[in-house]
Amino acid sequence: MPASESLCPAEATPMRIRPLSAPLGAEIDGVNLSQPLPLSAFAEIERAWRERLVLVIRDQRLSDPELIAFSRNWGELDPPGPNPYGAPFLPEHPEVNVISNVVEDGKPIGNLGAGEAVWHADMTYIDRPPKAAILHALEIPPSGGNTYFADMFAAYDALGADMKSRIQGRIAIHDASLNSAGQLRRGYEPVTDVRQTRGARHPLVRTDAVTGRKALFLGRRTNSYILDMELAESEALLDALWAHAGNMRFAMSHEWRRGDVLIWNNLSVLHRRDPFDPTARRVMHRTQIKGEEAVR
Ligand code: SIN
Repeated sequence: MPASESLCPAEATPMRIRPLSAPLGAEIDGVNLSQPLPLSAFAEIERAWRERLVLVIRDQRLSDPELIAFSRNWGELDPPGPNPYGAPFLPEHPEVNVISNVVEDGKPIGNLGAGEAVWHADMTYIDRPPKAAILHALEIPPSGGNTYFADMFAAYDALGADMKSRIQGRIAIHDASLNSAGQLRRGYEPVTDVRQTRGARHPLVRTDAVTGRKALFLGRRTNSYILDMELAESEALLDALWAHAGNMRFAMSHEWRRGDVLIWNNLSVLHRRDPFDPTARRVMHRTQIKGEEAVR
């Protein structure tokens, strides 16, 4: 996608969209997400999101109602999935998830702690997973906690013909019991047999409803299982697919600054996060946009 520039009337400054020098991602500036966006500006942002899959918008200061209002441009919001503690982090805004390592008065204010969050897509353990996720950085540690995004269209395209035909039409279970930090969600037992894993079943190859492009759709590795396959064969095939999907040749990395807003195409990218110093504070607020039905 070529860089583009257009006037955003709410700002009276040009909004610029510039592809990152990575296989995916674009940075947008000249836009203030706390203000209502003209339809034409939103249409450009959405087009860039479809083409580049991850958008980076710096220097925003969004309250939760502003984050929610901006998110609603994208569609209906999905409430966050169950967390390990059994109650929404922000009862006054239950559609907002908090990603944080901070503990206040003995209670975590958010999810995922300070460890690594392994490669995953958000909430694919439900039948209609979110099409987009929007993450706003409110507090950032001095180092660490970078987030990586990998393009699953490119990962699918790079598979050999044999592998493509081996996975076409195959369905995998996407585990609902563990979050990406490996914590057990409230209401779930540890999985002892992956053939019984609780969570949605999705095709390994997902066809984008708008563009018709095919993407690998893996969700998360732990406790996954490919239906109607010998267990050992399913494990070996999933290991091979995950080793391929997490290759950095399909990926971009993001070093966070306070005020960043990242918007990603959750159905066609995976993301993972580096660990960071647990004594430093990292606080992010996230919304999720309900996804469309998959084309099978
Ligand atoms: C997430 O999985 O949504 C969290 C990513 C991050 O903490 O950077």
